[in-house]
Amino acid sequence: MPSTSCPPKQAFSKRTNPASHGMLLTFPPRSPDFPITSIIPPMDRLHTLHFLWLFSAAPVLAGYPIWWSLALGQQYSSFGSQPILCGSIPGLVPKQVRFCRNYLEIMPSVAEGVKLGIQECQHQFRGRRWNCTTIHDSLAIFGPVLDKATRESAFVHAIASAGVAFAVTRSCAEGSTTICGCDSHHKGSSGEGWKWGGCSEDADYGVVVSREFADARENRLDARSAMNRHNNEAGRATILDHMHLKCKCHGLSGSCEVKTCWWSQPDFRAIGDHLKDKYDSASEMSVEKHRESRGWVETLRAKYSLFKPPTERDLVYYETSPNFCEPNPETGSFGTQGRSCNVTSHGIDGCDLLCCGRGHNTRTEKRKEKCHCVFHWCCYVSCQECVRIYDVHTCK
Ligand SMILES: *[C@@H]1O[C@H](CO)[C@@H](O)[C@H](O)[C@H]1NC(C)=O
Ligand SMILES: *[C@@H]1O[C@H](CO)[C@@H](O)[C@H](O)[C@H]1NC(C)=O
Repeated sequence: MPSTSCPPKQAFSKRTNPASHGMLLTFPPRSPDFPITSIIPPMDRLHTLHFLWLFSAAPVLAGYPIWWSLALGQQYSSFGSQPILCGSIPGLVPKQVRFCRNYLEIMPSVAEGVKLGIQECQHQFRGRRWNCTTIHDSLAIFGPVLDKATRESAFVHAIASAGVAFAVTRSCAEGSTTICGCDSHHKGSSGEGWKWGGCSEDADYGVVVSREFADARENRLDARSAMNRHNNEAGRATILDHMHLKCKCHGLSGSCEVKTCWWSQPDFRAIGDHLKDKYDSASEMSVEKHRESRGWVETLRAKYSLFKPPTERDLVYYETSPNFCEPNPETGSFGTQGRSCNVTSHGIDGCDLLCCGRGHNTRTEKRKEKCHCVFHWCCYVSCQECVRIYDVHTCK
């Protein structure tokens, strides 16, 4: 009989098993793409054409992955019920197209993961001058902002690759695909008075998928590729570092005769919070060129020797960000005019900093709210509607 009282979640850091990193390659390849004719419903064909049209009419040369647009493409929200045309997903390099065809089943989670990363980015940056805005009618979904090797680029790469690892791991544990599942290394007694049970999330698998897919285009010998690889890996490491044990008690109520535990991923918010700290403390690098047998290779070295050099868990960048105060189509800055700011805050969300010293306008806004709510026995609540007046401050 399950009991009602459970000990608090225990936090351990999960040691990862490097030997398992090769496992992705051992799965049998999955079925190839569906043939383009006949199966595609007319709507899907329309969407695909629209995508292709965007792609050909305005060739996009973004410094970041075009396939991130998977996160915004309406047609990918119902993956699974519709055929996925790997060859028509914009911005995939050949290795990614092969991956897509071989692991078609996990493509919905890849798209979901990028979406999760972008949503978290928008949450973390909501009160800042650059707030992670995406542009829906372009395949370069962040505009030119991320073309430069800035802190913002570092953060988005890290959170997107973490999102992919996270979403793939989650969907494996939920049993939504046949090619992956729970981490089966943990069985029987733990030797610490409890038993392995439930479904341990196999974050190593998600990390391998993210590494294979998200890093596939980062194989150039230049500095930007090195930076993207580093930040992608830092994002994924955050997931592994935040794995924790969840436990449940079984037995007569109140007792904990049998305790079962399993590895679980953190809330994605914890990943976002952690990477936001890494954004604030990101390391500025300088680019060095070496002549090697494969040709000229660019590597990154910490710019300031006074500071501690970055570890593999830190974010790195080598170009300074614009200040994002004024709109500028070249840098992709939208400016902060019209943004709402917080008059009492002295931080970056405060009117002084957010409005870049231009000052702000104040207007009042009436909002209807529920109030004087009364609970009636039994069981409903009745409320009145009140109008409350708020001051809204927006940047000049
Ligand atoms: C983000 O910034 C854009 C451009 O300045 C603005 O239109 C949008 O409302 C902002 N979003 C939030 C959540 O503040
Ligand atoms: C504005 O900033 C103050 C001080 O930092 C904070 O306590 C308050 O919650 C903020 N208000 C909003 C609406 O974010």
